[in-house]
Amino acid sequence: MTENSRSADHAGDSQAGSASASVPEGTNARRVFVKTYGCQMNVYDSERMADALAPEGYETTQAVEDADLIILNTCHIREKAAEKIYSELGRLRKLKDARAEAGKATMIGVAGCVAQAEGQEISRRAPVVDLVFGPQTYHRLPELLARAGTGEAVVETEFEIEEKFRHLAKPAAARDGKRALTAFLTVQEGCDKFCTFCVVPYTRGAEVSRSVEQIVGEAERLAARGVREVTLLGQNVNAWHGEGADGRTWGLGELLRRLAEIEGLDRLRYTTSHPRDMDAELIEAHRDLPQLMPYLHLPVQSGSDRILKAMNRKHTREAYFRLIDRIREARPDMALSGDFIVGFPGETDADFRDTMDLVERVGYASAFSFKYSPRPGTPGAKLPDQVPDDVMTARLHELQDLITRQQKAFNASLVGSVCEVLFEKPGRNPGQVAGRSPFLQPVQVEAPESLIGEIATVEITGTGSNSLFARLATGHNVKVATSASA
Ligand code: 5AD
Ligand code: SF4
Repeated sequence: MTENSRSADHAGDSQAGSASASVPEGTNARRVFVKTYGCQMNVYDSERMADALAPEGYETTQAVEDADLIILNTCHIREKAAEKIYSELGRLRKLKDARAEAGKATMIGVAGCVAQAEGQEISRRAPVVDLVFGPQTYHRLPELLARAGTGEAVVETEFEIEEKFRHLAKPAAARDGKRALTAFLTVQEGCDKFCTFCVVPYTRGAEVSRSVEQIVGEAERLAARGVREVTLLGQNVNAWHGEGADGRTWGLGELLRRLAEIEGLDRLRYTTSHPRDMDAELIEAHRDLPQLMPYLHLPVQSGSDRILKAMNRKHTREAYFRLIDRIREARPDMALSGDFIVGFPGETDADFRDTMDLVERVGYASAFSFKYSPRPGTPGAKLPDQVPDDVMTARLHELQDLITRQQKAFNASLVGSVCEVLFEKPGRNPGQVAGRSPFLQPVQVEAPESLIGEIATVEITGTGSNSLFARLATGHNVKVATSASA
């Protein structure tokens, strides 16, 4: 793992988690264990899989050995993702055998971007797998499972994204009996940009936007259930477009204005954006909408014009600086985050210095950096002058040191200031409640647990390694939920 801190990337970082849903009463419960790798879109997809399986009588379990169905929702963005999945499948084969001896059947499915990229090869190399299904087929999970249940090894990697959007199961009201305060909402999937290092256009397919109607409907349902913060997801979220209520084509800025009208949605975020698609309307939305949080993940990947060109990023470093200036003009307190790749083929020391210089000039609140990893089938993998691993390692350390210093400086600059926190759960120590700042930092606040679910003003008192500490501000203002039905 090479990233600097928590995951905020659009296409992956191996962060495993599990989705959950509850089964309607009176159904004969079977158990599903979903292991999620990678980006927030996989987290969202895993939850939709759990939702789609609930009417089939599946409830989620966190204990893999109890599961009748095990799904690995995989990520293919960097490194030996497929190899990791094959070793995980080796472990699961033993588990499946042990359960079979106890008279229990286990079905194993591989979903996500490795499933899309490897397809049939997975069933060939790991016959333990009953079902291989790509990201655009999740709405058909019950039918695919039924087919797999007849003993047929099912491989489904068609691109039928419009269908998926139309049939996506509705988000569950509550997970494990707890009201969700924050939620992801996929608005766009796929990518047409074809950056030469990136596998996403091949695993997630072409750029497709969900309709305004679907998105607003899902956001309203989330708000009615007490969700106060929604993060719009897309591999290229600011390429989103759709037909608005006024018959015109809307971009993300207009969509955000519409979502800001929904009562109860106090906080809006979106990720991940491409510099080329930050249009004036979106920048103005940052100026005008208090709900739109002042934290923007805007990957640039490199500070060298030569490397940006070789990466097919379609903009220069100067264009990125100008864009940052416009964003900061619109929203002076904007905290910026980014992604960087070191060691793209042909990257010289001078190119890397340009990246360091760009980071110095922009000043990030947080950022993620990775060693270039050649992805099968991408143009970058075939380029000459692949950079030796020891050179990449040295560059990565230098860049990460700078980013860590910037992150610490940003956190320290907040001490003594006031900001709002959405309280989400009990804190690390008794007497503390944990939430997130507008800048997405975890904050531990000395406050009563009754504030969970509320947004209140706090004063930042100190910084930890990954979080901030705070107390309720004098005369703090609690923004009570307006539409929560819990
Ligand atoms: N090698 C290294 N990093 C990559 N990323 C995407 N593809 C690769 C690759 N082949 C990084 C980019 C992207 C983030 C999600 O992952 O920085 O923004
Ligand atoms: Fe990959 Fe580039 Fe598309 Fe982002 S914009 S998903 S890095 S191809």
